[in-house]
Amino acid sequence: MKDYTVAILGATGAVGTQMLTCLEEQEFPVGTIKLLASARSAGKTLKFRGEDVVIEEATPAAFEGCDIVLGAADDAVAKQLLPAAVEAGATVVDNSHAFRMDPDVPLVIPEINADDVAWHKGIIANPNCATIIALVPTWPLHQLAGVKRMIVSTYQAASGAGAPGMAELEAQIKAMGSGEAIPEPKAFAAQLVSNLIPQIGGFDDEGYTSEEMKLQNEGRKIMHLPELAVCCTCVRVPVLRSHSESITLEFERDITLDEAREALATAPGVKLVDDRSAESAHDRFPMPIDTSDQDLIWVGRLRRDISNPNAARGITFWCCGDQIRKGAATNAVQIAKLLVK
Ligand SMILES: NC(=O)c1ccc[n+]([C@@H]2O[C@H](COP(=O)([O-])OP(=O)(O)OC[C@H]3O[C@@H](n4cnc5c(N)ncnc54)[C@H](OP(=O)(O)O)[C@@H]3O)[C@@H](O)[C@H]2O)c1
Repeated sequence: MKDYTVAILGATGAVGTQMLTCLEEQEFPVGTIKLLASARSAGKTLKFRGEDVVIEEATPAAFEGCDIVLGAADDAVAKQLLPAAVEAGATVVDNSHAFRMDPDVPLVIPEINADDVAWHKGIIANPNCATIIALVPTWPLHQLAGVKRMIVSTYQAASGAGAPGMAELEAQIKAMGSGEAIPEPKAFAAQLVSNLIPQIGGFDDEGYTSEEMKLQNEGRKIMHLPELAVCCTCVRVPVLRSHSESITLEFERDITLDEAREALATAPGVKLVDDRSAESAHDRFPMPIDTSDQDLIWVGRLRRDISNPNAARGITFWCCGDQIRKGAATNAVQIAKLLVK
């Protein structure tokens, strides 16, 4: 197999550093790695396969000779720099929101729509992290009974706001533990420790946030379901890593709990942890503390939606997944692997 020249744009961030580990773990055929970040990081080093790699300032010229570019920077940087990567002949897998809803850009979760990679025109987008964590377990149930409506509440970790979000929560936890004044929040709209913040992104005219609408808009594109109806509430919680979600699904056709359980137990990318009689809470249901730093979406608390007038068509469950891994870096490297297969 050929070895590829791979660049990471945003290599020093929460997602970028995780990408380095994922490339190693998934044994991606990297010949040369280029680490790109802002001018602030140029000259510093990060380790790849045990060797120090010097970080370069990201400029359009830096993409010369690259086969694959993994984007792990914000929307503005992605829009400004990634078209130059495509011009230089690279294929881009981008984690930002910048290109996700562009009709010329496939939006891919490999467990669901790997075939969409085939029609890319230089850029493939990685979906929003909460969207990936919701859809990986929803997909096998959709295949059984056709999902038509989703009601979702998310419990999103501080590191979903990147390295600065993680650092802010850690500093607040430390201050609280030592009795010092809690530092003024910068990454979040309010103090996160001992609190919940029910706003991620800006509000639209209906009062939904941009993060909440991503699940409907991206879900429709990924699952090829233009009519999918989603009502979502996104909440930032004082957890360092791993998003959790409460998901209620309404189906076109009847589905039994046994069928749902069997489908989830064998679905790629899913781990079923659903044993009400287990002695330890860790075996009874998924929790973010258990799902951090691994690649599966854990699903539990599977039960009927007793509020649905047609009880055979409603199922509700809880799931947790590491949003820096499967919600970002792992998914991006899985997409890149589809490109070199
Ligand atoms: N965190 C998550 O859980 C998560 C999940 C899914 C998707 N995403 C998306 O992934 C992307 C990265 O998120 P993150 O959480 O990793 O953010 P982050 O920790 O804040 O990292 C941002 C990265 O972008 C680089 N950067 C900033 N300004 C730049 C510039 N002008 N030119 C080149 N590079 C620049 C930073 O480099 P310096 O260190 O030099 O500043 C850093 O490497 C975002 O689009 C985010 O929405 C994040």
